[in-house]
Amino acid sequence: MRQDLIEKARGVLARNDRGHYTVPTHGLYPFQWNWDSALSALGFSHFDEARAWREIETLFQHQWEDGEVPHIIFHEMNDGYFPGPDVWGTGRKIPTSGITQPAVTGFAVRRIHARARNKTMADANARALLPRIHAWHQWFYRNRDPEGTGLVSIIHPWESGRDNSIDWDNALARVPTEGVAPFKRRDVAHANPDHRPTDEEYRRYIWLVQHFRSFGWDNSKLHDASPFRMVDPGFNGILIRSCRDLADLAETLGENEIARESRAFSDRGIAAMETLWSDAYGQYLCLDRVTNELVESPSIGGLLAAFCPIPDHRAKAIASRILEIGKTVQYLVPSHDPAQPQFDGLRYWRGPVWLIVNYMIADGLLNAGQTDIVQRIVTDSIRLIEQSGFAEYYDPNTAEPCGGSSFTWTAAMVIEILKTEAAPA
Ligand code: DGY
Repeated sequence: MRQDLIEKARGVLARNDRGHYTVPTHGLYPFQWNWDSALSALGFSHFDEARAWREIETLFQHQWEDGEVPHIIFHEMNDGYFPGPDVWGTGRKIPTSGITQPAVTGFAVRRIHARARNKTMADANARALLPRIHAWHQWFYRNRDPEGTGLVSIIHPWESGRDNSIDWDNALARVPTEGVAPFKRRDVAHANPDHRPTDEEYRRYIWLVQHFRSFGWDNSKLHDASPFRMVDPGFNGILIRSCRDLADLAETLGENEIARESRAFSDRGIAAMETLWSDAYGQYLCLDRVTNELVESPSIGGLLAAFCPIPDHRAKAIASRILEIGKTVQYLVPSHDPAQPQFDGLRYWRGPVWLIVNYMIADGLLNAGQTDIVQRIVTDSIRLIEQSGFAEYYDPNTAEPCGGSSFTWTAAMVIEILKTEAAPA
């Protein structure tokens, strides 16, 4: 059965493989997405290491001169997606978007390197990627943490990857819609509109894109110019984990200066993460940098922080919190607390389960020794696949497959989970 699932997952990867990059899924997302690629490379690495390295190499070929790695690379024109290159207007020869996405590549590269069968190829690729990933991390702390707090802001909900999370509702309501050029959404032609963000949210997403474009995508200005500045514990947890892993990788490769600075980023970030902890919710919360207030919204962002090496007592508290949530749903981990009135089990990041997040939370909690909850998370993850195939996301109670189908990173996570020590007993 397990081998059968792995073969099916490989079929999904093959279908979405465009040779030097993969699309997340046919139709809905026809280009290369940043964190999709990094996580998908983990799946490839189990059966084709060269292809895994190529995926990440392609992504970093499109890194900007200032260090940013954009969230979409528009390799081939396709008018089935909105917003396309004309809306972003970043002026790149091969067009890209202008915002970024969770920085999970440092983690992925270290993991692929550590277990590589072809050590020579792994060393060569890791050595080439190391300074580029580090430049991206430096870019984050330079441009998105101007006051040196140790935590970075996102300036667009799409940067978090959790596009329509309830976390953003109040802050997004402050983003205007006046002056947004008329547009036609394409996502709702490929996926059920009830599973996707609303039109109102899209108008605000596009206002932000137009606003940043009016600054010529000058990253030294965008943080302060954005009416949406949010410190997401999940986003920061991923960045901190990647900095920590890059430090370890750099040490292995004898790149001591990168190791030193990466470890300093990660140590400072872990200490600063304490400012996001809420005893009332038993988890981390987002900080709205415009109002300087914690956002009272218990989402998966505050659980995903466990991907980085938070203190043991915090990891234990997160494990207990997930255990409690697990009593209210059939499948862990819902992207929002089901006890909250805004929870919606079908709508993208307002309740559904995502396998990539399950994988990252399980990995962090495994490192923290929270093995019972890890077993439940990975068992639920595989049950979802058996029940509903390789969907983009799933209803945490009915397992209804939502969003796109034949999804690359879902398939990659199945291979990764089944082939590693995190596999269900
Ligand atoms: C989308 O188009 O839904 C993406 O999440 C934005 O990157």
